[in-house]
Amino acid sequence: MSEREVTLVTRDGAELRFPCAAKDNVLAASEAAGYFLPAMCHEGTCGLCHARVTEGKYTMGPHNSAALQGGEVLLCRCEPDENLTVALPYNQAQVLRYKVPVRQAVIESMEPAWQNAVALTLRLQPDPEQGQAVEFSPGQYMELTIPGTDIRRAYSLANLPNWEGRLDFLIRLAPHGQFSTFLREQAKVGDAITVRGPSGSFILDESSVRPRCFVGGGCGLAPILSMLRHLGEFQDSQPTHLIFGANRESELVPQSDVEAVTAALPQIGVTLAVSAPEENWQGFQGTAPAALDAFLSQTDEPIDIYACGPPKMLEAIEILLQQRNRDDRLIAERL
Ligand code: FES
Repeated sequence: MSEREVTLVTRDGAELRFPCAAKDNVLAASEAAGYFLPAMCHEGTCGLCHARVTEGKYTMGPHNSAALQGGEVLLCRCEPDENLTVALPYNQAQVLRYKVPVRQAVIESMEPAWQNAVALTLRLQPDPEQGQAVEFSPGQYMELTIPGTDIRRAYSLANLPNWEGRLDFLIRLAPHGQFSTFLREQAKVGDAITVRGPSGSFILDESSVRPRCFVGGGCGLAPILSMLRHLGEFQDSQPTHLIFGANRESELVPQSDVEAVTAALPQIGVTLAVSAPEENWQGFQGTAPAALDAFLSQTDEPIDIYACGPPKMLEAIEILLQQRNRDDRLIAERL
């Protein structure tokens, strides 16, 4: 059999079927069939195309093992050996029927945000076909290309969809990261940058009536701020809690951002968790997962947990939820 059939099953139960030639990977075959899944590098390094094979044999091509969580595959490296069924970790709405848009933008401002992070604002250039509006679901990301290269990095949007073409990001400056080096050493206001997006499945399930708990670590706060701003804009009244974790007080989210969120969502509870605080720290002492554990101790009601942060934080949350064996739902995005 030289051609296999792939069936993708979305989180909300839709089934998408298409053929996949021998030696072709699932991601390429889905794009050939007109289904554009969340993905970036197409070469097994970024981890964005992760999913779970539920039926059928396959071969995984070369990939970065750090991009892969236990039991999952990277669709850009997954070659079916027979008919395959794949469970996608997102809903049908996140499977695009068109190529992700590519636009031009300029750097409007770059400010130090908090320790080791930069608040970057881009402005889209007006486009004859697409206008200047920025449309996305709060929680999604854009890929930014380092000018003059093919190097792209994905960063979550921290603001809301708007007509003015404004894109706000919080970007952690990694010591040897290529985009971080570009920001530190080269980038200046007025520089042109290519942006591709929006993409990503880390979005609110607004049909759910459960209480929500948002857990952010580091720049994982950016998509969470976007979601909370969206809920505030619509005066959402569901019980909501925000946990933000940092190693030290100086790495916490600025107080002004917390106040803006609490002013728009008066019912929100906020836990600032610091794992290695100074002597007089009045907030929670411990990690973000430990603060989530404490929060879960106070309620029996199943909740929706939206978590974005480093892999270690997400792994700790997954272990915690397995141990607690409750009916909570985790919607997570790795940084
Ligand atoms: S698209 Fe990056 S790992 Fe598959």
